Amino acid sequence: MDKIKFTIIEEKHIHQISNIHNTELGESVLNLFGIEFLEAMYLDLLRQGNWGFLAQINGEVIGFIFATQKEVSFIKHLSVISIFNFFIKSLQSPKKFYSFMIAFKKFYFAKVNHKIIPTNIAIELSHFAVKNNWKSAGIGKKLLKQFENKANLNGFNFILTRTHNMRLADYYIKYKNASTIKKISLGFNQFLILKWEI
Ligand SMILES: CC(C)(COP(=O)(O)OP(=O)(O)OC[C@H]1O[C@@H](n2cnc3c(N)ncnc32)[C@H](O)[C@@H]1OP(=O)(O)O)[C@@H](O)C(=O)NCCC(=O)NCCS
Repeated sequence: MDKIKFTIIEEKHIHQISNIHNTELGESVLNLFGIEFLEAMYLDLLRQGNWGFLAQINGEVIGFIFATQKEVSFIKHLSVISIFNFFIKSLQSPKKFYSFMIAFKKFYFAKVNHKIIPTNIAIELSHFAVKNNWKSAGIGKKLLKQFENKANLNGFNFILTRTHNMRLADYYIKYKNASTIKKISLGFNQFLILKWEI
């Protein structure tokens, strides 16, 4: 097998990581806005000083992990095309539309804010995905290790993450000694917010 290379995410990788986000993070309500929206979001996230790692083989990106220290407003990246995508995809996937409405309400209007707020000591692991054909081969664990090392070097002591993937949540609890901070229901999906020390 050709060697898998792990590198820091650069702007030139945004198209490939947005495609992985779109296909592998099926629960992400942001997918309703389309690939151009995801690309604009990742570009802005990177330009604001956020960072991540990717795994690639022969130039093809096969997985990535992303840290958010500084949030960006998703509304800023809406365009005529992304709003058009939102309506079309919402009609095609009413369940996801419902989840989006619940998420929007909970993240922006609820009395208790369910958003993860990164702090000086806790960084958010905001996006994490490996392409289907490469899942369960240990790539995610390697990406996570690099993520933890860099977060540590940058002075962070904790990782916060939100996930719907209960198998992954069990992994964080068992191997990272993560604790569950909150359980949130977003439409048809349950999410856990987890935190662990690095
Ligand atoms: C979660 C994910 C990024 C892990 O990457 P990976 O390369 O498959 O992971 P590894 O082989 O290194 O295994 C690490 C852990 O990931 C989880 N995992 C691995 N394969 C998985 C799969 N096919 N589906 C779901 N979770 C999986 C497991 O918890 C695993 O630990 P375990 O085997 O001890 O339970 C990847 O499986 C994925 O993209 N899943 C779908 C998207 C997702 O759930 N993203 C994270 C939540 S936002």
